[in-house]
Amino acid sequence: MAYKVALVVGARPNFMKAAPLLRELSKFNQKYDPILIHTGQHYDHAMSQLFFDELDIPRPDFNLGVGSDWHGAQTAKIMIKLEDMFRNDRPDLVIVFGDVNSTVAAGLVASKLLIKVAHVEAGLRSFDRTMPEEINRVLTDHLSDLLFVSEPSGLENLKREGIESDKVVFVGNIMIDTLIQNIEKCEKSVILEKLSLKPRRYVAVTLHRPSNVDNPEILRSVLGTITSACSPLPVVFPCHPRTRETIKRHNILTKKLSDSILLVEPLGYLDFLKLQSQSFFVITDSGGIQAETTYLGIPCITLRNNTESPVTVSEGTNMLTGLDPANISNAITQVMRSDREKGSVPRFWDGKTSERIVTYLNGIM
Ligand code: UD1
Repeated sequence: MAYKVALVVGARPNFMKAAPLLRELSKFNQKYDPILIHTGQHYDHAMSQLFFDELDIPRPDFNLGVGSDWHGAQTAKIMIKLEDMFRNDRPDLVIVFGDVNSTVAAGLVASKLLIKVAHVEAGLRSFDRTMPEEINRVLTDHLSDLLFVSEPSGLENLKREGIESDKVVFVGNIMIDTLIQNIEKCEKSVILEKLSLKPRRYVAVTLHRPSNVDNPEILRSVLGTITSACSPLPVVFPCHPRTRETIKRHNILTKKLSDSILLVEPLGYLDFLKLQSQSFFVITDSGGIQAETTYLGIPCITLRNNTESPVTVSEGTNMLTGLDPANISNAITQVMRSDREKGSVPRFWDGKTSERIVTYLNGIM
């Protein structure tokens, strides 16, 4: 009998992490029976289905359809539905990804049912407990039986927190598997033509962290600083639903701002990969984009005071500015003068992370 392996995904950043692992597990179809569960945390076409289509992810075996809610309610709804499911049809292993609410919800349910939990992208820490993701990371790591780590800081963090070393495996960054698999495919994207952008002659921006986008004063100030410091380069901003809500409700996009910033709907994986890989530089508060720009050698300015992925700063192309306008402007000026070195690609960010994970599982299952 094949081992039943449940992969739980819920939000946009999970999909590109699960895709290569699902494919790799499917190569051993005598040994594993992978089951894909979508919690429904993200549900808009542009935040979910589009990624399934573009990354060739099979239709989920189950969709829990939980949707948006307060964190407690959203996490609880996922837990109730998953517990029911796992009690009726018990998997041998549950695999969770990253740091979203769906990750911790699935980890908690499985561990209480004494089902083994594997966490992909374990050990990352921003040391900022005001971020919901940090709470999700710490809890998920401490519930997990197997911790697949993406960079050296993860190994140090888990050791310091007393997690037994025999549970921890350094496998590299699984998002880079997906990036490498799609980098040629994204050449076909016509997003630059569609938005009338010239390669290397624009700045790509994404912002969606509650601390940056929920307060209209902060968001207004940040967008003002970005557009004036980047001028005359056009700024293109694929906008997360959460950010769009603040922009709309508080009428942030004045005539002046909308002349210099191109606000577009969230893009699919291939369009966004093309957009970042052809940009002059990227400004973001996303975790995944810090990693992708490091791999691509594109300068990245991160509007946060901390990062859970310090290797993107020490080896990659990432700079942290926080929200101080002077810091943001200085970083932009520095990048526009091309004062930054290109950076290097961290160890094991090589497209073979999912292979290393499955090789490891083959050895223990
Ligand atoms: C979640 C993750 C975050 C990740 C981000 C990527 C947590 C705690 N946070 O944040 O780590 O970087 O996804 O996008 O899990 N909404 C829609 N359509 C959707 C999904 C959300 O309109 O398909 C809107 C809703 O108004 C919702 C808000 O976005 O209330 C926030 O969505 P939610 O999934 O709670 O968190 P994100 O901010 O997307």
